Amino acid sequence: MVDLVKRLNLSVPVVLAPMAGGVGTPALAAAVSAAGGLGSLGAAYLTPAQIEEHVADVRRRTERPLAVNLFAPQPVPAVTPAQVRASTAELGPFHAALHLPPPTLPERVQEDFGAQFAAVLRARPAVVSFAFGRLDHAHMEALRAAGLLTVGTATSVPEAVELERDGVDAVVLQGGAAGGHRGGWRQDDLADTVLLVRAAVATVGVPVIAAGGLMTAADVRAVLDAGAALAQCGTAFLLADEAGTSAPYREALRGDADTILTTAFSGRPARGLRNALSEAVHSPLPYPHQNALTRPLRVAGAAAGRADMLSLWAGTGYRHAQAAPAAHLLQSLTP
Ligand SMILES: Cc1cc2nc3c(=O)[nH]c(=O)nc-3n(C[C@H](O)[C@H](O)[C@H](O)COP(=O)(O)O)c2cc1C
Repeated sequence: MVDLVKRLNLSVPVVLAPMAGGVGTPALAAAVSAAGGLGSLGAAYLTPAQIEEHVADVRRRTERPLAVNLFAPQPVPAVTPAQVRASTAELGPFHAALHLPPPTLPERVQEDFGAQFAAVLRARPAVVSFAFGRLDHAHMEALRAAGLLTVGTATSVPEAVELERDGVDAVVLQGGAAGGHRGGWRQDDLADTVLLVRAAVATVGVPVIAAGGLMTAADVRAVLDAGAALAQCGTAFLLADEAGTSAPYREALRGDADTILTTAFSGRPARGLRNALSEAVHSPLPYPHQNALTRPLRVAGAAAGRADMLSLWAGTGYRHAQAAPAAHLLQSLTP
């Protein structure tokens, strides 16, 4: 079993969660890595050129290890014109409010995984993590041959077992409290993070990285005591000075909306703050179509300061998120 702390020379057993979609910047990843944790870049929505630029940007700031995260490629399900009409009708009023043309489904609904993967191989981060499924044998072999550590994402023990069989070096176990997308692909019981970690550690032989609701040093201590090798924190960094979290998103995080699991923004369940858009969408297209369909609205909504139209990903612990430099936040998570 790989000793992640030693191999990555970490002085703090905390991974900055990869956060695709603008929150996780190179400056944030670099700040966490430089302070002794493992910084991650959420690269799932980046073009291949952006992936290489963002990794180079981190490298200019620190030479310490970095993780890059992608979404495992998904089969693109067929959608009917009636489904598209229903989902575009729900988004129409939001487009009108921002003076955007009516929503239309773009031809291309997801990034080119093969090209993203090739960019990651060229960039050679110490760790490559992935969510939403398994990588096939050829991709796993390519990462191994390049000497990069691989980390898969599971929301249940059976998923962790499959990832271990595929040859990953470590598994993220994501509990139900976690902000952002559910990272697994089978049935998801939204498990308690500590209980999930304990069950996974008893079953798989690879190191377990705990994620979901870890907001304090005591939370990190609890998952390490349960047998996790590292803790992965996302929501705790949403208000970091270096995060790309938009102004309306930051403002919403200072309010007290509930977090909910919603498929409204991407077609896949994700945890975020309840808002007007999450309430208005009842017929989302399946992922990745809905993600592509809502993108113009999310971009324009952020520019217009409209938190009611944004995907405000946040875990259940968001009220404990603090506005501070990332190094300070990392210190506050150090057990
Ligand atoms: C804004 C945001 C974006 C996220 N994006 C990703 C991502 O791109 N890839 C991924 O594997 N996980 C992503 N996650 C989930 C995290 O990896 C992690 O499971 C979660 O943040 C842990 O729970 P916490 O938010 O309570 O700390 C995201 C989470 C948030 C809050």
